[in-house]
Amino acid sequence: METPAADISHLPLPPGSSGLPLLGETLSFIQDTGKFLADRRRLHGEVFRSHVLGDPIVFLLGPEANRWIFAGENKYLRNRWHLSARKLLGKQSVAMLNGGAHLDRRRLLAPHFTYAAMRHFVPRIEALVHRHCEQWLSGTQPFKAVDAVRALVFEVAIVLMMGESPVDAAYMSRLFKKWAAGLFAAVPLDLPFTTFARGVAAEKEMRAYLEPMVVEREKLAEQPPDTLGSLLSARDEQGRPLPREAVLDELQLLLFAGHDTTVTATSNLMMLLAQHPEVLERCLREQQELAGQGPLTLETLRAMPYLHQVIQEVMRVIPPIAGAFRVTTQDVAYGGYRIPKGWQVSLSIRASHQSAPWTSPERFDPERMGPERCEQKPQGAYIPFGGGPRVCVGQHFAMVEMAVVAALLLRGYQWELVPGQDLSPIPFPIPLPRDGLLVRFSRR
Ligand code: HEM
Repeated sequence: METPAADISHLPLPPGSSGLPLLGETLSFIQDTGKFLADRRRLHGEVFRSHVLGDPIVFLLGPEANRWIFAGENKYLRNRWHLSARKLLGKQSVAMLNGGAHLDRRRLLAPHFTYAAMRHFVPRIEALVHRHCEQWLSGTQPFKAVDAVRALVFEVAIVLMMGESPVDAAYMSRLFKKWAAGLFAAVPLDLPFTTFARGVAAEKEMRAYLEPMVVEREKLAEQPPDTLGSLLSARDEQGRPLPREAVLDELQLLLFAGHDTTVTATSNLMMLLAQHPEVLERCLREQQELAGQGPLTLETLRAMPYLHQVIQEVMRVIPPIAGAFRVTTQDVAYGGYRIPKGWQVSLSIRASHQSAPWTSPERFDPERMGPERCEQKPQGAYIPFGGGPRVCVGQHFAMVEMAVVAALLLRGYQWELVPGQDLSPIPFPIPLPRDGLLVRFSRR
């Protein structure tokens, strides 16, 4: 592994191409990121350059590269989102902050997102899952599971972040979908009818909806124990609260970061279980062994090791986030190449999950997530939640939520995939099943 060197000007740039003026190679990257990376890996190896989403970029593949990226945060790298996201994500949210401000915000959020802090949410998630599943049963059959899971996950997130605040989850979820689409627009063209312009409009509407609720909450003498409460209670060294803009930026970011990711993982979990009856059968046996233990708790969830292996394997085969971007803060050397200051560096999560040290990586095999086999993998080989100082804030929340949803689905219901639909994942930005995962849902 190489660290920033004093004089690296003699080193060559990584191999690769900058593509077309302005657009670079953005279109082929967006059309099929997996193929884009695989083609170039075959041609150039584990380090290559390109030009996507508005900037020159170096792709680094493999566990060692991942560790180098995690170790470089705030040293030779800092976070940078692509152009559309930079315009649409609040500038004062944790994902946009860097250096000391980023660490301070992480410290502020951390207590709300520990595994132990999820204890209070388990019964609330359980109640929401029951309610949504009963609605799925009584609604039209077949239906798109992705839409149904989206509505559920959004309501769960609102409960975690905003407690009992009277949020119209369905309305917010619609705005949210447009905003999130705008965030991933290839070019931030703010012209009528573009995806980006719809995203901008949705963001404004969402903020106008959330702001009065935040104002009401500011008036409370004591804040309820939810994420908004923690943001409103925070004080800096001079005893000043976070500006309201920062609170709103953070709230929106957290809703965004935890939404499509969890929807994707949960939908793909439903799909892969339906496609692998032997895995489903083993999950059912595990649930039957726990039958009669009453409502779910963190303790009962911990007694479901196989289900956790399955969830982990779902996120290995189809990681909800394919990768993330950083930018170099100085000329830096890696793998015998020079990466100039100001270039993007890509953390490639999907590529890491689909190559060595994983054997037959395309195969869905929860056995490989068993402790004996998993421990042999080098650090950086399995990174669905990223790593280093920017490791996912909501990873415990996501794992607990997915385990509760999966356990309750297994215990009470069954679902069949409607034949003839396209189950291949959308290549960008989030690998949801293309036709929305059409299922027939019934009571077990
Ligand atoms: C299956 C579900 C999820 C997956 C796979 C996932 C994945 C990730 C990944 C890979 C990153 C790192 C991005 C980077 O390195 O730039 C990340 C960051 C983040 N995640 Fe998640 N996430 C999930 C759920 C959640 C949830 C439920 C929340 C909040 C409730 C959340 C909040 C965040 C935040 C705030 C960040 C930014 C952290 C920072 O910049 O310091 N995520 N997530």
